[in-house]
Amino acid sequence: VTIAALDALARAAPGPTLDAALRWIVAGCMTQALARDIEQAATRIHDLVAAVKRFTYMDSVAGPEPVDVTVGLRDTVRVLAAKARERAAGVTLDVAPGLPRAHAIGSELNQVWLNLLDNALDAVAASGRVTLSARLETDRVVVRVVDDGPGIPPDVLPRIFDPFFTTKPPGQGTGLGLEITRQLVRQSNGDIAVQSRPGHTEFRVSLPAERPAP
Ligand SMILES: Nc1ncnc2c1ncn2[C@@H]1O[C@H](COP(=O)(O)OP(=O)(O)O)[C@@H](O)[C@H]1O
Ligand SMILES: [Mg+2]
Repeated sequence: VTIAALDALARAAPGPTLDAALRWIVAGCMTQALARDIEQAATRIHDLVAAVKRFTYMDSVAGPEPVDVTVGLRDTVRVLAAKARERAAGVTLDVAPGLPRAHAIGSELNQVWLNLLDNALDAVAASGRVTLSARLETDRVVVRVVDDGPGIPPDVLPRIFDPFFTTKPPGQGTGLGLEITRQLVRQSNGDIAVQSRPGHTEFRVSLPAERPAP
């Protein structure tokens, strides 16, 4: 709808006809804008449901299989995007090109990334940064979750994998995240290690890489 078109309309349709025509045009424009909004919202919902479905491996049997770690990390970032936004935290995903798949249990791995990213987001202050990275080291796929939060005090560090150990207020922490995480990593024949100092806390998960077909 342009000014020129409206001028032409005003000349062609005088008085009450013009009034009715304008109302009709406004209603048409609003309907179009609403339809566009609905389409965008539906696309977002579709993307999120697809991410959650992939995330939970709803369609597959549990057992070690070749797992594209990149997809799981990306879905995890998507699933926790709202929490990151709430904290005004930046989340970066950095995957080495040509990363081979890991031989692991996909659905369980996603719980691992979720727990680690969740903790990192709890730790960082506003406008803090969390980086998830993945690369091949010899024959292992190594994923790191690094945050620039205050770090884990040395007296707390030996206890973080204990069941029910939490430093968070009641209702916020269960203290089960890392205990479960460690079990899940072990079920995929992986290892988890942590190192922390103020401004740099790093959880490192190493998993067997898929052996290329002979
Ligand atoms: N990235 C992190 N930075 C600082 N502290 C952490 C981090 N990750 C874990 N922790 C510490 O480890 C504790 C246990 O974590 P977890 O098992 O996930 O339980 P919860 O998150 O419910 O407290 C947390 O309460 C916190 O003190
Ligand atoms: Mg936790």
